[in-house]
Amino acid sequence: MSVESTETNPLRALSPQDLRAHAAEALTRARERSVALTSVDDEDLVRQHSKLMSPLVWDLAHIGSQEELWLVRDVGGREALRPDIDDIYDAFQHARADRPALPLLGPEEARKYVREVREKSFDILETVPLQGRRLTEDAFAFGMITQHEQQHDETMLATHQLRKGDPVLHAPAPPSSRSGPLPAEVFVPGGAFTMGTSAEPWALDNERPAHEVAVEAFFIDTAPVTCGAYAEFLDSGGYEDPRWWSERGWAYRSEHGIDAPRFWKREQDGWWRTRFGVYEKVPAAEPVVHVSFHEAEAYAAWAGRRLPTEPEWEKAARFDPATGRSRRFPWGDEEPTPDHANLGQRHLRPAEVGAYPAGVSPLGVHQLIGDVWEWTSSGFEAYPGFAAFPYKEYSEVFFGGDYRILRGGSFGTDAAAIRGTFRNWDHPIRRQIFSGFRCARDARPSEVA
Ligand SMILES: [Fe+2]
Repeated sequence: MSVESTETNPLRALSPQDLRAHAAEALTRARERSVALTSVDDEDLVRQHSKLMSPLVWDLAHIGSQEELWLVRDVGGREALRPDIDDIYDAFQHARADRPALPLLGPEEARKYVREVREKSFDILETVPLQGRRLTEDAFAFGMITQHEQQHDETMLATHQLRKGDPVLHAPAPPSSRSGPLPAEVFVPGGAFTMGTSAEPWALDNERPAHEVAVEAFFIDTAPVTCGAYAEFLDSGGYEDPRWWSERGWAYRSEHGIDAPRFWKREQDGWWRTRFGVYEKVPAAEPVVHVSFHEAEAYAAWAGRRLPTEPEWEKAARFDPATGRSRRFPWGDEEPTPDHANLGQRHLRPAEVGAYPAGVSPLGVHQLIGDVWEWTSSGFEAYPGFAAFPYKEYSEVFFGGDYRILRGGSFGTDAAAIRGTFRNWDHPIRRQIFSGFRCARDARPSEVA
């Protein structure tokens, strides 16, 4: 039996009309979010809130520019709207720190531009054949552009977190724990499982193809590491003890004066943090967020553990021992609902450990999707049989670079931009992103039945 044959493609059941409606709905949801994130004063839109980020107005017009390139010009074969701005919004041409100095479209111009591009995209979506060409099969290009917009929305959310001043974003609190006390760790049996996908219609090139990977038996934390557990590492002097840090991690921590997760501050009564303009006590039961790979790795060493590899993470998330099959998501093949996972910026924070019992994996692992991106110990490499699509700059140029893989998405990731197979990669020093982690350890021979 080939590894692909147990995979399902949920869009194949749709009529062409329903497929178009599905793509239109995904694009619309992304745009509503982009509009919400850019509905701030013009001054806030054009300002660079941190050297790490672009001005919000750059992200907005860049979203339109990518949509114009792929949907209007390529898929639609239409004439260019604004060929004069292609270069300004090419992320490869200009580093984030340099973007404010570019002759960017102003707030009104940028809003008008993305509206005009979107009107054309919808027009094209109604008429373009959704078969016969790989780029439009299963409406892939529309899914790719939806994911691109949602990814920039998450980036803009991170810019909001770096913004100084009174809160401008508001959302209800996430659910509290709905589980009893959870076991600390879960056993994952050794052996082969199917990693990656060949059938997921909107999966990106780096998630393909499905292939068999064998892992040794191991244990993984039932839930992401909490702020409370992380504070114990801090309070026991973990940031001052080079024993727990890699050489590179120690150098990074020393050079940059890193002494706690980003946005944390020590007060007389414990740790506090700033979250989207709100100063609050760090909640002990919530997964820790805004830590770099180096910090995650140091914590794991202090705890006598290690970070999971990328295949280990995916096996814990997708493998169903009852069927031997890999699921699309930990809970099954159905799309995420608000009951499964903390996604889509519905809440402006991770949820307490135990808040999503409906999202648990077959092996009993919680909150793999949503809440916080989880650092793994793996670099970004091509799967065997990888083929760049639709362009090399999507993934291929990043393979083998100085990156670590993050998995699972955060509270700021939309459901359209996450799957059990989705791979994110970033530099090991990065921590303005919504990054946390969970630990793992090898199984001892006596623990493997
Ligand atoms: Fe982009």
